[in-house]
Amino acid sequence: MTDDKSKKGKDDLTRPPPKRIAESRTELSELMQPNHANFSGNVHGGVLLAMLDRIAYIAACKHSNHYCVTASVDRVDFHSSVKVGEILHLFASVNYVGRSSMEIGIRVQSENLLSGEHRHTNTCFFTMVAVGEDFKPVPVPELVILKEDDRRRNEEGRKRATLRKEAARQWKAKQGG
Ligand SMILES: CC(C)(COP(=O)(O)OP(=O)(O)OC[C@H]1O[C@@H](n2cnc3c(N)ncnc32)[C@H](O)[C@@H]1OP(=O)(O)O)[C@@H](O)C(=O)NCCC(=O)NCCS
Repeated sequence: MTDDKSKKGKDDLTRPPPKRIAESRTELSELMQPNHANFSGNVHGGVLLAMLDRIAYIAACKHSNHYCVTASVDRVDFHSSVKVGEILHLFASVNYVGRSSMEIGIRVQSENLLSGEHRHTNTCFFTMVAVGEDFKPVPVPELVILKEDDRRRNEEGRKRATLRKEAARQWKAKQGG
């Protein structure tokens, strides 16, 4: 569970009860077809980005039971190309939650159906924010953390969230807001 004492207060009244990470863990697999290809015959980067956004949305909605928007995407590296005919497997889970924001960690693997080879092609982090009907941020359940791996991801997510918050604050200050 997150332990930031400064978050306690009126949110305690509106925050839904904590949820286990397993409740929102999401997997998505898709066969890469010719309409996914770029001019070189490999899968278009934009196709992968759209899939990442989709799975991040699903995991965030499952955790919060609210409509969610993408607030930021950490750097996405394309470590190796994905070919038409391969399957892309995406695995997403909520690493860390703030008040209304959730860091979703996503692992991407490609599978070559002919050779059986699996390759880890990407790992990236999406920050999704749960919003109400007025599109204003709303509190999300805290995380119940049961496993050591999840604790490590939570701690790393917390550090990244602090950096993002500072970047968002600086951007707002530059805009004069
Ligand atoms: C994301 C959004 C809801 C935040 O609203 P806001 O008025 O800035 O609200 P706040 O400053 O209270 O921030 C709410 C939360 O979002 C987080 N956040 C805001 N901007 C962020 C950013 N750029 N990166 C990561 N987190 C961010 C804040 O840290 C805060 O987290 P917390 O509640 O867990 O502490 C708002 O900026 C928005 O609607 N953006 C457009 C989203 C969109 O259209 N996405 C599609 C992309 S094309």
